[in-house]
Amino acid sequence: MKPTGPLIQGAALIFLLAVAQPQSARAADAANGERIASRWCHSCHLATGRQQNGSDLAPPFSSIANDATLTPEGLHAALSGRHPRMPDFSLAREQIDDLSAYLRTLRK
Ligand code: HEC
Repeated sequence: MKPTGPLIQGAALIFLLAVAQPQSARAADAANGERIASRWCHSCHLATGRQQNGSDLAPPFSSIANDATLTPEGLHAALSGRHPRMPDFSLAREQIDDLSAYLRTLRK
């Protein structure tokens, strides 16, 4: 038998690593999501743990985070301008991904 085993295994490993790359070029960054939330969302929402009060109209992020129906896709939809009483932030997809990652850290 020829000693090709390790070579084939090596090639298979490289192939797997290439395939396993995440879809987006960068991973969502929850810390950046928190920064965005404290800058853009906190005037209405209780958006960060340090914040004392928001508006009564907007649900606090801690309860949004626990809303089982609010998937990352739901957040994208909510923030893409279709939400009736929220301003259109025209956030980039990466920023929404970061916010969504941040919201997941609030989940209890
Ligand atoms: C001008 C006030 C205001 C700001 C600023 C604001 N929101 Fe809201 N948001 C609201 C209100 C009011 C609601 C509740 C709307 C309703 O119940 O119809 C809401 C609801 C939501 C919901 C729930 C949507 C759903 O379908 O259940 C999400 C998620 C959300 N906001 C995320 C955000 C994020 C993220 C930011 C910052 C980028 C933000 N909001 C900034 C007012 C605001």
